[in-house]
Amino acid sequence: MEIIIKENEQLASEAAAKVVARLVREKPNAVLGLATGSTPLMLYKELVRLHQEEGLDFSQVSTFNLDEYIGLSPDHEQSYRRFMNKNLFNHINIEMDNTHVPDGMTDDIPGACAAYELAILDEGGIDLQVLGIGSDGHVGFNEPTSSFASRTRIKTLTQQTVADNARFFCDDESKVPNHCITMGIGTIMDAKMNVMLAFGEGKAAAVAATIEGAVTSMIPASVLQHHPTAKIFIDEGAASTLTLSDYYRWVYCGKPEWQKDL
Ligand code: GLP
Repeated sequence: MEIIIKENEQLASEAAAKVVARLVREKPNAVLGLATGSTPLMLYKELVRLHQEEGLDFSQVSTFNLDEYIGLSPDHEQSYRRFMNKNLFNHINIEMDNTHVPDGMTDDIPGACAAYELAILDEGGIDLQVLGIGSDGHVGFNEPTSSFASRTRIKTLTQQTVADNARFFCDDESKVPNHCITMGIGTIMDAKMNVMLAFGEGKAAAVAATIEGAVTSMIPASVLQHHPTAKIFIDEGAASTLTLSDYYRWVYCGKPEWQKDL
């Protein structure tokens, strides 16, 4: 794992965007795995800026999102499809047909999940997966005790996640769908690189457990300790309870510039 601690969310997001941009420049038909939630918003803003001001070209890029709520149509205000269109896809030159978000309205959930896995394979697999983290350590919607071998499937949200996400649904927990389709942990681990972002003290415990705790399905993100190329971009708040934070800073500062966005 590589831990990159930046002063604030903006700087951490810009550093993560450089990694994405470098991949897209080197591999114009890169396959990106994308995440939703408030965490990746600044990363997407920076990617839009890089496209508009520096010509970062997404015309051959394809994307697969981690998850979607079951029962929300693509035009629902809180659907992850709508989130992606609004915050990224509508502002870059990506082909909409090359963007994939699980279908929360499908009437054949197992079939749609299997097809999603096949579509990822057909594109040659995910080159870089963007991840946030839930306060309970979930990635995508892989809640605690999710199998490390899991693939795209239906999951039930924990009550904590329902409560956390109620802020997007007028603070009304009853409006948050309890079920979702999410890539599995096995799917996420197959990505060639994983880029996780986490900001604020509210994420500090989950981040510390992910990086410095035992690998356990109780903290699904901790599986990233087994991933050969996992980069964790965090701000001071999210880093606030790490035991070895001075070491991570020292490692990053000692890197030559060219290696920082590899
Ligand atoms: C949701 C998403 C996750 C995301 C998490 C954290 O549950 N399914 O992919 O990482 O929320 O959300 P936020 O970034 O808003 O804290």
